[in-house]
Amino acid sequence: MRLVFLGPPGVGKGTQAQRLSAERLIPKISTGDILREAVQKKTPLGVEARSFMDGGKLVPDEVVIGIIRERLKDPDCRGGFVLDGFPRTVPQAQTLGSMLGRTQSGIDRVLNFELSNDELVRRLSGRRSCPDCQAVYHVEFNPPKKPDQCDRCGGKLIQRSDDQPETIRKRLEVYQSQTLPLIRFYGDQGILTSIDGSGSPETVYRRVMTAVGK
Ligand code: AP5
Repeated sequence: MRLVFLGPPGVGKGTQAQRLSAERLIPKISTGDILREAVQKKTPLGVEARSFMDGGKLVPDEVVIGIIRERLKDPDCRGGFVLDGFPRTVPQAQTLGSMLGRTQSGIDRVLNFELSNDELVRRLSGRRSCPDCQAVYHVEFNPPKKPDQCDRCGGKLIQRSDDQPETIRKRLEVYQSQTLPLIRFYGDQGILTSIDGSGSPETVYRRVMTAVGK
């Protein structure tokens, strides 16, 4: 099963991909997580990516394509994967197709998560993340048991630097201009399913299950 999770910032792609990955035993590959880890470790990739991410802009295509090209070579991807946050531009999607070299797109299904802008801002503003194990919380919708402490590994929770109001606005604009065209790209190939992203994570996950087959 080769899946792509598409949708605006904060719609819940990562939350749903994490659960599907755990239940189906396929890797969740998030370019955002890979880039944030590189930023945290101050690797050359992280140094290059940081200013784009903090400004709410996309990291250049050739950089993220390079990351995915390497990651998909890993043996755990042989049985499938869920891509979270990649592709995000038409050139990324075209390159992914030629990398996988199977069907036109190279993937089986694209799930496009949808949610109102007001709700996206609410989800992003209240998000807290664990930089050590990547677990994601929300101060209102999914709070940790102890304030600011990760339930899973005990790490100190942080607010992502790109979850500030000005950067959120920029990310939503960038999504409209650079990522929305992918809906048509995959829609034309007949592999796109829209998922209503509203409701509890459980409710959304049931919709995901219906779309990918139980
Ligand atoms: P990335 O990390 O991919 O960020 P994003 O796409 O903006 O998505 P988010 O991680 O913000 O949101 P999500 O949809 O995963 O929501 P989540 O599940 O966390 O990218 C960050 C940056 O990296 C980019 O801006 C760019 O610079 C760079 N980058 C990454 N990939 C790139 C690429 N391919 N090309 C170029 N640049 C790239 O949920 C959000 C919150 O809501 C959480 O608090 C969660 O607990 C809560 N929540 C989730 N579901 C629900 C629900 N059903 N009800 C209530 N609350 C919920």
